[in-house]
Amino acid sequence: MIPQDTVNQILQAAEISEVVGEFVNLKKRGANLIACCPFHNEKTPSFSVSPAKGIYKCFGCGKGGDSVRFIMDLEGFSYPDALKWLAKKYNIEVKEKEFTDTELAAQNERESLFIVSEFAEKYFRDILLNTEEGQSIGGSYFRERGFSQPMLERFHLGYAPDGRDDFYRAATGAGFSAEVLDKAGLISVKDNQVFLDRFRGRVIFPIHNVAGKPIAFGARILKTDARAPKYVNSPETDIYHKSHIVYGIYQAKNAIRQKENCFLVEGYTDVISLHQAGIENVVASSGTSLTVEQIRLIGRFTDNITVLYDGDTAGIKASLRGIDLILEEGLNVKAVVFPQGDDPDSFIRKVGGEAFSRYVEQSQKDFISFKTEISLADIGNDAVKKAELIESLVLSITKVPNPVKRQIFYQEVGRLLNMDEHILITEGNKLLGVQARSTVQKNDGGKVTPLPPQRNLEMEVLSKADTPQEEALVKDLVLFGQTQIGEDYPLANYIFNETGPEMIADPVLQAIYKQYREFWSRGEAPPDRYFVSHPDPRIQEVVIDWESPKHTLSRHWKKYEIFVPDYQDFLAEIITRINFRIALIRVRKEILEIIEQLDTEDEDREIILQEALDKKNREKKEIAEFLGSVL
Ligand code: CTP
Ligand code: MN
Repeated sequence: MIPQDTVNQILQAAEISEVVGEFVNLKKRGANLIACCPFHNEKTPSFSVSPAKGIYKCFGCGKGGDSVRFIMDLEGFSYPDALKWLAKKYNIEVKEKEFTDTELAAQNERESLFIVSEFAEKYFRDILLNTEEGQSIGGSYFRERGFSQPMLERFHLGYAPDGRDDFYRAATGAGFSAEVLDKAGLISVKDNQVFLDRFRGRVIFPIHNVAGKPIAFGARILKTDARAPKYVNSPETDIYHKSHIVYGIYQAKNAIRQKENCFLVEGYTDVISLHQAGIENVVASSGTSLTVEQIRLIGRFTDNITVLYDGDTAGIKASLRGIDLILEEGLNVKAVVFPQGDDPDSFIRKVGGEAFSRYVEQSQKDFISFKTEISLADIGNDAVKKAELIESLVLSITKVPNPVKRQIFYQEVGRLLNMDEHILITEGNKLLGVQARSTVQKNDGGKVTPLPPQRNLEMEVLSKADTPQEEALVKDLVLFGQTQIGEDYPLANYIFNETGPEMIADPVLQAIYKQYREFWSRGEAPPDRYFVSHPDPRIQEVVIDWESPKHTLSRHWKKYEIFVPDYQDFLAEIITRINFRIALIRVRKEILEIIEQLDTEDEDREIILQEALDKKNREKKEIAEFLGSVL
């Protein structure tokens, strides 16, 4: 147990902005600091830190507290462990009182795993630095690879002795049970109670969490011709989930924030070599395919990822999926390929940090050019392969959440492949159709019934409607709802999948929307002339107006009748408009919600809201400009 006066000392020393600042990128706003919240996924900052009050608060997800609470919540630490983390940060010595039995029992398993991992890290380091075997075998391996002393220190590299149970004996001698060593994945237990060290005769790369605690180990074999696997890694444990961590994040996070970019490489050695050459904003996926959790972890520090690939194309194709995932998370992604036979590690050792950075700068490609180039190489004149490429490019684009970015990417693919962008958009909508169809149920009659939209149905209807956009949306629904935009995929399905009645604030338009949807959910379409002869004169009036020649002969339709008679182009155009309208209605609604909240006494909160409002207004302007340009 930590004595109360030590606790007080820690609480006094802990400066909230320093503590939080280790994990997120804080920006100054008035007397406070703000950031994107590390506890939930967001693109606009709603997380505020008040140095004066010593607290943080997120207005998005509601989390709040002091320094200790922050470390507990973010790292999953217990109260004493969070205090110890802070004590370490501020160089405060913690002399713990004797544990009582109940306190000992209360120590949970995670904590003991952290403790034993820390012990193991120290042990492997100690063997490397202070034993004959460590120096002559592990030490000379690192020297041969050119890893400097400061890098061995920064990454806490170590060496596991070759004996079958050297570590086991040292750890049990220090009081750790075989059970906890096993749970931490440090030993393997044979049935007849024989204990074997997992890592033997290998150099050790500890894997740290964001707070810098060792949670797992990668152990590299020294011989080059061995039949044994190159790396032995820790198994999944209660504190180590391979898919949730990237190697080097603790050492890289400050540089990632500063550079507003993160390099993603494959191997431990790539990370270390880049650091040694002065490039510190780099993490490794550790040879497995990238996961959403890993991307979100990086996304806490920057929106920009540059993927650095080894110079063998086999691996690149396999990892393209990672690029789509990054796009889906709304981050920006670029890619760099190194010359044949080189990986980032070997390349930077050959040319040095400066030439390396220049190479990256000059050869980095956005994901579209990248995908297109690596695929075009082996396509030649094969029409089927070209069609596949187009489909895969378009599929990537459909993952991008921001409609403006999406539009730009469509234009770029059009340019690169010398194709009409509208054909690509149509292609994209077909793919969206396939995705959406999998969420559509068949009813007894075999007709397709869309599921009721799940979006915020209970949300309050806003007082002010965005009538022009809403009207255009509902008009497209009524006029073109039954038009097939993909195989067995009518436009109405698309609209009902993407929107809900709560988006339509105008009561008459909302009534039309709802009635259409009611038919649709029964597997029917509204009968001919249903709305034009509607008993409610307000509905009738609106729809009759839509059906009149004034609308069908608008500038837009004329344009298409004259210049682009292609039906597919016409559909692509409709969907594009609908997508932008939906985006515009949404952002407008978000703006109104922020404005409603602006009337607050809380100064901290007002600053954040103002910031959010500016961002939303910029977004709105951007979308509106694009909408203007496609109409
Ligand atoms: N890896 C692994 N197990 C293996 C091979 C690779 O876990 N048998 C993971 C490791 O995280 C490794 C990464 O995949 O760092 C990349 O593999 P590779 O490039 O082969 O290893 P490097 O660490 O780059 O090692 P080196 O440069 O010494 O060959
Ligand atoms: Mn490598």
